[in-house]
Formats: sequence, C-alpha cells, structure tokens
Amino acid sequence: MLAAGQYPVLGRFNLATPDPNAPDPTVRVRGIGVQISAPDGNVWRMALIDPPVFAVSTPQGFYDLLNASASKNPEAMKSFVAAHPEFAAFGEWATKAPWTASYAEVAFNSLNAFIFKDGSGAEHAVRWSLRPQTQAAPMTAEDFAKLGANHLEQDVTERVARSPQRWTLVLTVADPSDPISDPTKAWPPGRRTVEAGTLVVQKIEPEADGPCRDINFDPTILPDGIKVSDDPFPAARSAAYAKSYDLRTSEASSYPRTGASAKP
Ligand code: HEM
Repeated sequence: MLAAGQYPVLGRFNLATPDPNAPDPTVRVRGIGVQISAPDGNVWRMALIDPPVFAVSTPQGFYDLLNASASKNPEAMKSFVAAHPEFAAFGEWATKAPWTASYAEVAFNSLNAFIFKDGSGAEHAVRWSLRPQTQAAPMTAEDFAKLGANHLEQDVTERVARSPQRWTLVLTVADPSDPISDPTKAWPPGRRTVEAGTLVVQKIEPEADGPCRDINFDPTILPDGIKVSDDPFPAARSAAYAKSYDLRTSEASSYPRTGASAKP
C-alpha cells in the first residue's frame, strides 16, 4: 500500500454530528473518510478527525458521552465530565483551539493506533495524520459563524475547482512505552515520523449521488501489512459504522430522483 506510485482515492469530508443538516459553525469536530485502492487489489479505508486526541478512552466512554450530550438534563454533561477526567485534553482543544474556514486547512488524525509491518517484517504501532499543505488561517468561532451554514462544502468545492488540494500522509511510530489502546493520550513529541505519501484531491462531487455515498469508511478495512492492535476502538467503530451505514443507506427518499423513479 505504501510502495511508490499513484493510487486512486475516494473520500468524504464530514462534520462530526449525526445531523446531516447541522450548520458548520455548530460542529466543533471535522473529519475525513478515505479509501485508497492499490493496484494489487488491496484497499485501505480510514476515518480521521481533527482533534489531537479523542474525547474518551474507551468505547463505553463514548457511549456515555453521546448519552450525556443528547440529554435534556442540564447536569448530564457535568456528571459525565466529572466521571471522565480523561475528557480534559479534548475539552481543552475544543474550547481553545482556533477554528479555520476550510477543510483544506485541517489536519486529520487517526487517533487510534494500528500495527504496521515494515520491510524487514518487524511490527510497529503507528498513528497517522493527513497534514494540510495549505497554510491554515486561524480564526475565532464568531468569525467562522459569519461565513454561513454551509461554507465548508462551498469552499472546498471552489478551491478544488481552481487547483488540486494536498495533504501529506505522516506516520508516527510509537516507542514501546507509548499507550497503544488509549486515544485520549497523545504520544510524546519527538517520536519518529515518516512522510509516506500525498493525498491529492482533484475533484469534488456532491454527496447525494457521488461515488462515496455508498461506502462505509470502516477503519478495520486494512491492506496487507497493516492490522488492528489490542485497542478496542476499531472493532467498536466497525460495528457502529455498519449499523449506521445500514440506516443511512435506507434513506433512499433523500436521494436524487433519476431515471424511471423521476417520472411523475
Ligand atoms: C467508539 C468510538 C466511535 C464510534 C461508536 C463512532 C461512530 C461513528 C458512526 C456511527 C459513524 C457514521 C458512519 C456511517 O454512517 O457511515 C462515524 C463516522 C465517522 N467517524 Fe466515528 N466513531 C467512533 C470513534 C471515532 C474515532 C476515534 C474517529 C477518528 C479518529 C472517528 C472518525 C469518524 C469519521 C471521520 C467519520 C465519518 C466517516 C464517513 O464520512 O463516512 N470516529 N463514527
């Protein structure tokens, strides 16, 4: 998968919310789903988000967070935060990190670690990121909100129409002492990094009938040489994405009406 060459990619930018109509400024976390296809038939799917650490250290914790944030009880989030001290690093990022006005300025992170086999057969725990080659222009949440509800999609469509947008794929290799199964814990700075490729986005197509609509960006779909670790997140994510995919692909009423079905 990482051998030199040009491999076709399909992907989707996203806001991290279950509401497909959520206005951009109401959603703090942005993501990207990516599928890379190698010439030998190997496929690598990933779903990456922009915080430097995840909000919770276990899938159960994520379930608790979703329940707390959906609760009408004003105490629910306070109780959640009190019970989950590991939430603090994510909370710090969510409240203090600057916003940007473009997906092209966002660094997307795997957060979960996977096991990569090197050329000699040795295995290493790796987290990876797609780092934007476009310089970020940081802004406040208030200024971003002035750009409107759907600025991110319009912006990336216009940018890519002008010129391809690029991200560098950076692998970060764990030291043996680094936590592999807790995505709330950043690895110390200075770990070995490898620039393994460049994502080049050349074309934007609408979600409603574009080629990625019917793809499930399940992070356990991995090529030869990459496998899951003992981190429980990827398996939990795989199960949840499958259920969600099943639900959203049943929403055919929101698909464009074409061909025979478009006739009155
Ligand atoms: C137990 C933890 C998690 C659960 C239960 C979960 C659940 C989900 C679900 C249900 C979806 C929608 C999938 C679909 O309809 O196709 C989704 C999408 C996504 N998730 Fe997660 N997630 C978890 C953790 C994470 C983590 C750690 C990351 C990033 C490091 C992440 C990144 C993404 C991204 C980028 C998408 C959008 C993919 C797309 O465009 O189809 N998730 N997640």
